[in-house]
Amino acid sequence: MFVFTILGSSMLLVSVYMYEMFEVSTYQGSIGRPAIINQRPIIGILAEEYFENKNSQAPNGSHIVASYVKMVESSGARVVPIFIGKDLAYYKNIVNTVNGILLPGGGVDLWAEDGYGKAADIIYNLVLNANRNGTYFPLFGVCLGLEVLGVVSAEMSRTVLVDCKGVENIALPLNFSDDYRSSALFSGTPQHIIDSLKTNITSNHHSKCLTQASLYENNLTETWKVTSTSGVRGDLKFVSSMEHVEFPHIFGIQFHPEKVPFEWYNKNNDPHDFNAIVANRWFYDYFVDLARRNDNSFSNKQKEESSIIYNYPAIYTGGYFQQIYRFQYSDSASTNLISVVSQQ
Ligand SMILES: *[C@@H]1O[C@H](CO)[C@@H](O)[C@H](O)[C@H]1NC(C)=O
Ligand SMILES: *[C@@H]1O[C@H](CO)[C@@H](O)[C@H](O)[C@H]1NC(C)=O
Ligand SMILES: *[C@@H]1O[C@H](CO)[C@@H](O)[C@H](O)[C@H]1NC(C)=O
Ligand SMILES: *[C@@H]1O[C@H](CO)[C@@H](O)[C@H](O)[C@H]1NC(C)=O
Ligand SMILES: *[C@@H]1O[C@H](CO)[C@@H](O)[C@H](O)[C@H]1NC(C)=O
Repeated sequence: MFVFTILGSSMLLVSVYMYEMFEVSTYQGSIGRPAIINQRPIIGILAEEYFENKNSQAPNGSHIVASYVKMVESSGARVVPIFIGKDLAYYKNIVNTVNGILLPGGGVDLWAEDGYGKAADIIYNLVLNANRNGTYFPLFGVCLGLEVLGVVSAEMSRTVLVDCKGVENIALPLNFSDDYRSSALFSGTPQHIIDSLKTNITSNHHSKCLTQASLYENNLTETWKVTSTSGVRGDLKFVSSMEHVEFPHIFGIQFHPEKVPFEWYNKNNDPHDFNAIVANRWFYDYFVDLARRNDNSFSNKQKEESSIIYNYPAIYTGGYFQQIYRFQYSDSASTNLISVVSQQ
């Protein structure tokens, strides 16, 4: 009898679990997410211009902020840096090699020659082409990364981004769009995470933003589905998350999940509590899970090993970004993934 009871209750548990799995996979199937085919995803993270200080006229090489790398790694992927100022062949090679690309946040002129904005423009169009060609390829923009998605999808329009004063260094809730549960981004999000995201739990550090109005003015409302807005004042509600209508695995968020567990600059007001850690994790976990549905790979193991960010040292700054990776331009214009050397 005892054995039967144990068996009975565990079978009940199994069937409840399977029911939940079934529910989730049915939902994901309904929004066209293909099956998982790759348990060793590699994410490319785009570097951006590095300025020695606020008065620097010209960038000195490029950098990647380490908190993005850590966040992607802790979702179960490895990271390859993507360098700026390269030719089309280099970015084509990247899009045919990695399983997803992250456009991180930062502060650069998106219209600068050979910079992050230019590279993001090339990458966005290559990713669109790949998806149109039947290759499922996710692209995720965070903060400046969301902003650049807006800009490049409007062919580098200067009117998509608007001033968004008052949301630098503030934790805010997401105000979900009415149909947010039918988006790819939020259709499978556990309810407890949704509940947390309705509290002051997202880390905002931006002075520009996209709004419903700026998307409308740039004819982008058919391109992007706004899944949430946030704001501090009644008159300014910015787009805090959005996904591409045709390919919803191209998506962006205006806030910074990676700062919650990984940035500690003492002048920042980022939430670091349990609910904030759990809820913010979800966006990168979701992104990496999309990348498991792409089976690109490096042409050989040696190329993969030499391209991974493990080859570069993270430098402790003690500043606004606690750790960064720095890259200098090399003499070579080759399309080799490691044609840029680290500074140390
Ligand atoms: C650029 O960075 C390198 C490596 O850190 C440094 O040696 C050099 O002095 C920097 N150049 C300028 C102009 O700051
Ligand atoms: C689309 O796929 C075909 C066949 O694999 C390939 O020849 C072509 O280059 C691809 N186009 C793009 C834009 O990726
Ligand atoms: C949230 O969005 C709704 C419409 O979806 C709007 O009526 C409401 O004012 C918004 N609230 C905030 C705080 O932005
Ligand atoms: C959330 O943050 C806003 C802006 O700082 C503040 O006005 C509001 O009172 C906060 N809400 C809660 C529940 O703490
Ligand atoms: C705006 O989008 C519509 C529908 O996609 C298109 O027909 C129209 O030409 C676009 N207008 C501009 C100015 O791009």
